[in-house]
Amino acid sequence: MNERTLTFPSNDPVLVTCGLPYASGPMHIGHLRTYVPADVFVRLLRKMGTEVTFVCGSDTHGTPIVTAAEKAGVTPKELFEKYHQHYVDIFPRLNILFDNYGTTDDPENHHRTQEIVKELQKNGYIYSKDLESPYCDHCGRSLPDRFVRGTCPYCGADARGDECDQGCGRYLEPGEILNPRCAICGSPTRPITRKHYYFKLVAFKDFLEKYLENVEGTKNAKNYALQWVREGLKDWCITRDLDWGVRFPGDEDLTLYVWVDAPIHYISSTEEWAAKTGNPKAWERFWRPGDGKIVHYIGQDIVYHHCIFWPAMLKGSGYNLPYAIVASGMVKIQGHNFSRSRGYVVWIKEEYLDKGLSPDYLRYYMVATTGQTRDLDFSWETFQDKVNTELVGVFGNFVYRTLHFTNKHFGQVPEGELSSEIRDAIDSVIQNVIAGVNEYELKKVADDIFHLASFGNEYFQSNKPWELVKSDKEACGRVLYNSVAIVKALAVMIEPMMPSVAETIWSQLGFEPSSIHDTKLEVALDPPKVGATIQKPKPVIAKVDDDILAELKSTIEARIKKAERDETGDSEMVTVTFDDFKKMDIRAGTIVSCEKVPKTKKLLKLKVDIGSETRTIVTGLADLYKPEELEGMTALFLVNLEPKKLAGIESQGMILAIEHAEKEGHWIPITVQGVPPGSKVA
Ligand code: MSP
Ligand code: ZN
Repeated sequence: MNERTLTFPSNDPVLVTCGLPYASGPMHIGHLRTYVPADVFVRLLRKMGTEVTFVCGSDTHGTPIVTAAEKAGVTPKELFEKYHQHYVDIFPRLNILFDNYGTTDDPENHHRTQEIVKELQKNGYIYSKDLESPYCDHCGRSLPDRFVRGTCPYCGADARGDECDQGCGRYLEPGEILNPRCAICGSPTRPITRKHYYFKLVAFKDFLEKYLENVEGTKNAKNYALQWVREGLKDWCITRDLDWGVRFPGDEDLTLYVWVDAPIHYISSTEEWAAKTGNPKAWERFWRPGDGKIVHYIGQDIVYHHCIFWPAMLKGSGYNLPYAIVASGMVKIQGHNFSRSRGYVVWIKEEYLDKGLSPDYLRYYMVATTGQTRDLDFSWETFQDKVNTELVGVFGNFVYRTLHFTNKHFGQVPEGELSSEIRDAIDSVIQNVIAGVNEYELKKVADDIFHLASFGNEYFQSNKPWELVKSDKEACGRVLYNSVAIVKALAVMIEPMMPSVAETIWSQLGFEPSSIHDTKLEVALDPPKVGATIQKPKPVIAKVDDDILAELKSTIEARIKKAERDETGDSEMVTVTFDDFKKMDIRAGTIVSCEKVPKTKKLLKLKVDIGSETRTIVTGLADLYKPEELEGMTALFLVNLEPKKLAGIESQGMILAIEHAEKEGHWIPITVQGVPPGSKVA
């Protein structure tokens, strides 16, 4: 039986961590699916009276950093320092406030990592073995992890060296990938043999099965991991032939795999926090067997590392185990898998914060749109809709009309008392908020707060204070008193999701704005103070207007288009089989006539002699060439492309043209000389 050992609010202190961002690029919207719920959870726990420490840091090792540094022509350290600063600056702008934010390259982390590895060695969990791994003769280097691409041995998808990123999502051991090729130059690789170090993961099978059956958090984390354990584990190669990283103690030519030292930063970041509090041993309360509870927030893509490698490492070296693992579903963009190289991404600084949009709207959107474990399909339209209908239309509207009406007719909280109907309504939302926290389901929390605002609107509407103010001012005051009570409760409860908005409401209610952050959940039930001044309010949430929406959308669309054009220059190459290539019928064709298609800007209608017949082919080159410039030209045509109607004319093929690398949109037909029409490309 899985017995729950604790419910929130707890007397035990809680440590909350987040999957560390790779400091190889700036923050994107996918990251927020980890950081926003974690920050909201932390604020909710604090509101419930639980002591919480919240730590994170930049992940600075491994091939993601090394490849990005090579691309940028800087050292890995220069690269990570730049992005580390970016993260240090951007988290507070999103109201995401860590108690410590370090890096995996901090001396504390090098030290703690080596300590743990030495402990594992001492306990007999590490052994060495010769390993065949890919080497690229063209680049003259070993190819660890992301330096190699090939075929996933489990599902057959195109995968990178350490992870089946396009297919089944499995973690891949070095040497496991099939048909390896160099991710940098595309050359096939040659195996070389070298001594590496392995962690005896197999020895932890029974432990992991038991641990995972009992671990708290979301079902997706637990169930995936249990399935992997039951399918069978392999020992884990923990060293890499790479200069950048934490040295393997005892064999300084090798560095540790990034997934060894990255989660260990959860410990060293807690150590850094403890040192700052003046009680350097405070970290042990969480990480050494004791009463502290560790909760990891991560995305579903890194469940394997957190539910399998990490608990086994902790167990094998005598540290405390995570109490809960909360994994989110993935963020998609307009129905597409998240992909930087294809342009399906949203950059948080440039494309959101720097446009002057409030972090709170995005925070609300991230937790209120869908359940924790479901994928979130982002689009600017759904974002606008969520803000304008829920936040402005319901929540903001209720707060504004209540405070506006109260200020106008009373200037202060009128005489009244909290009715049992309103008290019960607020109390039941508080209970639901607590239940949502215990289920790690913050959408439930958001929905309940939203319903309270909606209930407030109905209460206001059905009691018609605008009529009462003329007929029975005291009765009007009583309605407003209860409406203000709901506004106050909303401010308290919305703070974890929308800290800035909550501050504004709090100040409109006459309180010191920043005191809302330390205000406990039960204060939502405290009746408002009669006679407290109510200032003339301003709307607390502004609509996302159509102009800004159009701008945000066009940024994404332009990027996707550009990515489509650049695809061939991408380092994540897609290979085409020779059989696929052979399917394309490319022939020399002579343009026998050419005319502009009426009422179009760009289209030209060509008659092309392709040897066996004359085809009609429509092409979009009219802005670049006059018809007479193309007539008589022999160029290459793809003649078995699916026919397509353009401006009412069926086009039976496509002219091949090359885009000038420095002049965007400048297309030059690929011409051939000295061959008769119909000659084939093979
Ligand atoms: N550095 C590793 C984590 C090491 S933890 C010891 C990593 N970095 S990351 O930058 O790729 O991701 C940071 C966090 O954001 C992780 O929790 C990850 O799951 C999450 N997400 C990154 N992209 C995501 C989506 N597209 N969707 C949802 N979450 C994703 O992984
Ligand atoms: Zn796979």
